Amino acid sequence: MQSQQIQSIPDEFKTDIYKGQTHYLRGLDKLKRDELINSVDKDLIINFIRECTLSKTVKGKSKKKIGPARCLKYIEILTRVSSWLDKSFDRITGKDIEEFIEALEGDKFLSRFGKPYADETKADIKKSVKKLWKWKDGNGRVYPELARKISIDLWEGNCRQILKDLDDNSVQLTLTDPPYFLEKLDDNWDDNKIKKSKAKAGVVGGLPVGMKFDPRQGVAFQKFFEEISKEIYRVLVPGAFFISFSQPRLFHRMAIAAENVGFEIRDMFAWHYTKKTQFKAFSQNHFVDKMKISAKRKKQIKLELMGRKTAQLRPQFEALMLAQKPKEGTCVDNWLKWKVGLIDSTKILNGAGSPSTVMPVEKTIKELYNVHLSVKPVGLLRHLIELFTVEGQVVLDPFLGSGSTAIAAMLTGRGCIGIEINPEYIKIAKQRLSKAGK
Ligand SMILES: C[S@@+](CC[C@H](N)C(=O)[O-])C[C@H]1O[C@@H](n2cnc3c(N)ncnc32)[C@H](O)[C@@H]1O
Repeated sequence: MQSQQIQSIPDEFKTDIYKGQTHYLRGLDKLKRDELINSVDKDLIINFIRECTLSKTVKGKSKKKIGPARCLKYIEILTRVSSWLDKSFDRITGKDIEEFIEALEGDKFLSRFGKPYADETKADIKKSVKKLWKWKDGNGRVYPELARKISIDLWEGNCRQILKDLDDNSVQLTLTDPPYFLEKLDDNWDDNKIKKSKAKAGVVGGLPVGMKFDPRQGVAFQKFFEEISKEIYRVLVPGAFFISFSQPRLFHRMAIAAENVGFEIRDMFAWHYTKKTQFKAFSQNHFVDKMKISAKRKKQIKLELMGRKTAQLRPQFEALMLAQKPKEGTCVDNWLKWKVGLIDSTKILNGAGSPSTVMPVEKTIKELYNVHLSVKPVGLLRHLIELFTVEGQVVLDPFLGSGSTAIAAMLTGRGCIGIEINPEYIKIAKQRLSKAGK
């Protein structure tokens, strides 16, 4: 299916900050057309300029608005510095700035017309670059703090195709809840078939969804999950985490699939749902009744099997896989470069002393219009997002369902890319997002 971007952050959440900012728009247009600069940098620069146009600079005690000419100049300079250094502006270091200035003074850095800069232009660029560096370095706070644009993008379609459209190293966390490939809950997830099956539940031959045991389910799931994990690996930045819910009996298949494409399996979490759930084990009496044996023998067997049931203990948790894309260097090196790979240990759940692998959260009470069968608690997703990312980063959910991950991302100030194959669920997700944002 052709991938289609449904919407960015819902319109009603947008404050129209760009309206009337003609200087900003002119700069933006120029920046968009610049092929030398990558999209991550473009976003960053856009945000910086937006902040500048919105707020006043604070220097000592005086406050002054940054004018249009200066905005355009900064766009130009930021663009040149990062394309000349061939590095994202976000990753430029003090040493890079020194090198840039040296090259500028030695006429190694030419204007866009291929000519050396005049001395006064060089001095001006040097002054501006130093100021920008001071801002970026957090030193002096001359300019507004870096603010990243967050956007909630919902895509309708098959993630097998859509994931291929995402850039390498562009996502800081994948948090998802895939189809478990148990009966009917697979890649061809069809609500009607599932509901029909549910209606027949209770007798053998019409077991409730997901209860029929078939070893081929695991094989099919692993193959499917490996294909998806390969793309997830590519789009995550080094050191980033991949967290996925799983059905306990197929957890191993999930972990092997992720490991096969290069992830390191770091841990297993338990989402512990505290409310008592249904005990689904079966007595074998109806099988005994069907056996072609005497009534006396049947009675004996039933007596022997008294209290014996199929090995389905009352489910009280779901297992989550914690996998990590290998880091670049040490945790500190990786953090300084990519801002991922370490958790925020101050984020705790339900008053626990420190973040734990067992996460007790009650099952979701759904909105009436949410007909999705497998809605995960937003509170749990928020906790995971806050533990593993910082504000402004991007969370990917290739199996968005009714949108719980996107809501959690939005409420915690993170961006989200959510993909869902079923248009009905996309509609529900949009409705939930719009409600949560009010
Ligand atoms: C377990 S549910 C996710 C539920 C979600 N966590 C929530 O809270 O609503 C898995 C979802 O994956 C979707 N799905 C299955 N195969 C898909 C595919 N190939 N691409 C995108 N979505 C898919 C299903 O339609 C289903 O909504």
